[in-house]
Amino acid sequence: MKNKSVRNIAIMGLGTVGGGAYDIIASNGDYIERTQGLDVRVKRILDRTDAPLRARGIDPSLYCGSVDELAADKEIEVVVETMGGVEPAKTFITKMLESGKSVVTANKELLAKFWHELEPIAAAHGCGLFFEASCVGGVPVIRALGESFQGDRVQSICGIINGTTNYILSKMSSENLGYAEALGAAQSLGYAEADPTSDVEGYDAAYKLSILGSLAFHTCLPYGSIYREGITKVTAADIKNAHDLGYEIKLLAIGKRDGNNVEARVHPAFVPKNHPLASVSGAYNAVYLNGDHVGDLMFYGAGAGAHPTGSAIVSDVIKALSDKPRYCDFANTGKLDKSVSLVGDFVSGYYLCVTVDDKAGVLSRLSTVLSDNGVSIKAATQSPSDGDAATVMFLTHRAREHAVMQSLEAIGKLASVRSVDSVIRVL
Ligand code: NDP
Ligand code: HSE
Repeated sequence: MKNKSVRNIAIMGLGTVGGGAYDIIASNGDYIERTQGLDVRVKRILDRTDAPLRARGIDPSLYCGSVDELAADKEIEVVVETMGGVEPAKTFITKMLESGKSVVTANKELLAKFWHELEPIAAAHGCGLFFEASCVGGVPVIRALGESFQGDRVQSICGIINGTTNYILSKMSSENLGYAEALGAAQSLGYAEADPTSDVEGYDAAYKLSILGSLAFHTCLPYGSIYREGITKVTAADIKNAHDLGYEIKLLAIGKRDGNNVEARVHPAFVPKNHPLASVSGAYNAVYLNGDHVGDLMFYGAGAGAHPTGSAIVSDVIKALSDKPRYCDFANTGKLDKSVSLVGDFVSGYYLCVTVDDKAGVLSRLSTVLSDNGVSIKAATQSPSDGDAATVMFLTHRAREHAVMQSLEAIGKLASVRSVDSVIRVL
């Protein structure tokens, strides 16, 4: 006879995150039953083969190779999607929602691209689409944005929201590890995406900023509207120069809303060592948020990894089994609202590094170009590099992005300039 108190779920994708969620349900099941009154059972697990089940010592009879079989199983109330990627995840999630099952997903790429399609399907079938695990690993920032700041206008969010790149930059900064070695370590620890290009080129952070920014600013912030730059051009010399000047280099995701002007960008940045984000290291993440009444808040914790992210999944499973589903409080169209203007010519400080001929007058020519474009220099140093070349480094005062880019174009054309080596914004 069916035990009526059992609440059955399924997992699609038993890898790092799906495995972490399974472990938590297995180890804390009694605790969840006692505290939440829910006897959560993983009834079926879908993956390519049953090998991930066997590797974890899970009864292989739980294996399910067919998404239609999962969809048809009326005892399953909630399905966890932890396969990743757009397809077949999108088709599988759609089938689950259409069969009346709530879905819990960690898939930020899919959400950033198709949230606007999936949410109406969930709503039409009266079920929920939960995605706490999609952003900032185990840190409950989605729940906070969705449920805790209704009385505030969130004016800015600034965060380290990719664990892999923060791990790489931290290892390069504190242990002088090479980029490739640090990336390999992040991959073996399960932090990186299946294709780590998504992490190191900033796509993953842009997907997350699209989700977080939409929730924070109550308007659709499509990921394609986010300025994006990854960490692949950050050199050991940049990290050393940052340290000498009192900064750490971090991949930041920055979103701001001022009236109908919205700014959204992902790029490496010099972060002053005394800023709370500078000390966020390894795979830890943090989101620094400002609301017009609550003021500054910082959410901090493990941004990736099996159990921290699994914790967010299990929390969503419990929510899906306990509460009525909630949907967006803004028009989730997947497009930038017509009333919103995207700010491309934002204001920032800049660190610039240029290799020049080591000749009289070169520094002054570079300074002239910057000043002609209205870019004011805060600090400048010149040091000899190889042979008859020199490295010139500038820190600028806050300047407009377009003015700095125009300056660099002009600087690149100067006869005495051999290369523009680095351009990194300063928080
Ligand atoms: P993994 O690669 O570790 O796990 C994915 C699992 O799903 C693997 O077992 C994989 O099998 C299986 N799978 C993939 N495609 C299919 C398919 N078409 N049919 C059946 N099974 C499939 O990934 P993660 O656990 O790291 O990531 C999963 C999701 O969670 C992604 O969306 C990721 O962005 C997100 N995420 C990851 C975090 C992390 O720390 N790793 C943190 C937060 C979110 P196979 O290995 O054979 O491909
Ligand atoms: N690859 C992602 C990261 C996983 O490194 O942050 C967590 O979303």
